[in-house]
Amino acid sequence: MRNASRQVIIAANWKMYKTKEQAKDFCRSFLPLLLPDSPEAVIIPPSILIDAVAGELKGSGVKTGVQNIYWENEGAYTGEISGEMAADCGCSYCLCGHSERRQYFKENALIVAKKAEAARRWGMRPIICLGETLEQRKSGQTMNVLKNEIEALLAGISKPGEDIVFAYEPVWAIGTGAVAAPEDAEEAINYIRGLIGNLWGPVTQKISILYGGSVKPGNISQIMACPNIDGALVGGAGLKPDSFGMLVNYKKL
Ligand code: PGA
Repeated sequence: MRNASRQVIIAANWKMYKTKEQAKDFCRSFLPLLLPDSPEAVIIPPSILIDAVAGELKGSGVKTGVQNIYWENEGAYTGEISGEMAADCGCSYCLCGHSERRQYFKENALIVAKKAEAARRWGMRPIICLGETLEQRKSGQTMNVLKNEIEALLAGISKPGEDIVFAYEPVWAIGTGAVAAPEDAEEAINYIRGLIGNLWGPVTQKISILYGGSVKPGNISQIMACPNIDGALVGGAGLKPDSFGMLVNYKKL
């Protein structure tokens, strides 16, 4: 059984998809699908759509997140947005270190921790992503990779807190349709929780750790049946209101 003090969170990362009208249409179709006991739902649009999405979601209880921020509060950083700007536009969550940011924009644990700290400074909850590549898994390095990454990340976080959310996302399962076997995801997340616990102590039992990588309506029940998995970070299946609605209402599937 999942520890009841941990919040279940189902988050949709829209990546670089949707125009403003498509984003608004999504929200208008998705909101009526929510049930009174739905878990925390988060929509994470491209930053240029945050204002439109947060406007549509206002008063619904569904939260808005930002996919990426820069860690400085302000300055001459052309093309970047600050945590203050994202929070001011209505974001309460901030993705940090998604594998696509690590792969294409060379983000590492030091940068990811700085972004998480900046998110917290402006009252947003960081969702810190980590996970191994296929080569690392095949060569039996998964646990080592997770250990090194968690230790490097936590070294850059100023104070422990249950505001921080983690997402275990094996890189080989993102956008590939190759979902991790629930027992493998559970094992990795249990291991991550243990590593955080070594450094942060009892608060770790209250920290939500999500699974991400090809989560769909057809596999979410098995994933959420795992006691250490506290929710899902979803890409493809979060782009359509009906499939995201099914994910948020996974208990009814
Ligand atoms: P996916 O993406 O659900 O399309 O695999 C997950 C993610 O990138 O967070």
